[in-house]
Amino acid sequence: LRTAAVIPAAGRGVRLGPGAPKALRTLGGVPILVHAVRAMARARAVQVIVVVAPPEGAAEVRALLDAHGLPESTDIRVVPGGESRQESVRLGLAVLPDDVDVVLVHDAARPLVPVETVESVVEAVRGGAPAVVPGLPAADTVKSVDPGTGIVTGTPDRSLLRAVQTPQGFDRTTLAKAHATVTRDVTDDASMVEQLGVPVLVVPGHEEAFKVTRPLDLVLAEAVLARRRA
Ligand code: C5P
Repeated sequence: LRTAAVIPAAGRGVRLGPGAPKALRTLGGVPILVHAVRAMARARAVQVIVVVAPPEGAAEVRALLDAHGLPESTDIRVVPGGESRQESVRLGLAVLPDDVDVVLVHDAARPLVPVETVESVVEAVRGGAPAVVPGLPAADTVKSVDPGTGIVTGTPDRSLLRAVQTPQGFDRTTLAKAHATVTRDVTDDASMVEQLGVPVLVVPGHEEAFKVTRPLDLVLAEAVLARRRA
């Protein structure tokens, strides 16, 4: 049985400022998405990759991936995405081959995730955890606020918080069930599994698995890449 990685890359990247869809912008001259696909393909455990392209951009993304010469040993599929991240992931899950039993979901926007992080998530799922997310202790104190008044409504104990990253790994049946039953809007896949009452395990994440969201993140990503190439 095989492990697949679904990479949602259909976001517009509005917070990054004007320009191409986020996944198609470049880092070190290479599209962010290509970095993300390579990061998954580098993991020996991952044999299938499904890239979820912008709704009108599947052909462009296919051509882009082919132009960057990805490893022949990995089965790479491209499908058009949807309006929300959740819908994009669901469209990706729909084209998984039958012999896949473990699924990673990895944001295209996390191009620099180290291979060790990917492998440790797969290992934990293969070891019996139905859902696994990489996470780091929260650096900032986090508050909840009343969005209407801006008044703070609470300060959760920071030692209990983790900032979670991707790839998030799942037993395929569990993830498929979550996507078939949970309709409420969510920002990651694990929270859908939580709503089913299935335990989600946190394993150590990595600083370099940060998400490229705002302009400063591009500066950081370029610096990390330059350090790796040095
Ligand atoms: O918006 P956010 O930063 O949480 O997006 C995380 C990932 O989900 C990105 O890789 C983005 O391309 C993807 N996404 C998607 N389809 C959408 C919205 C976001 O594939 N409609």
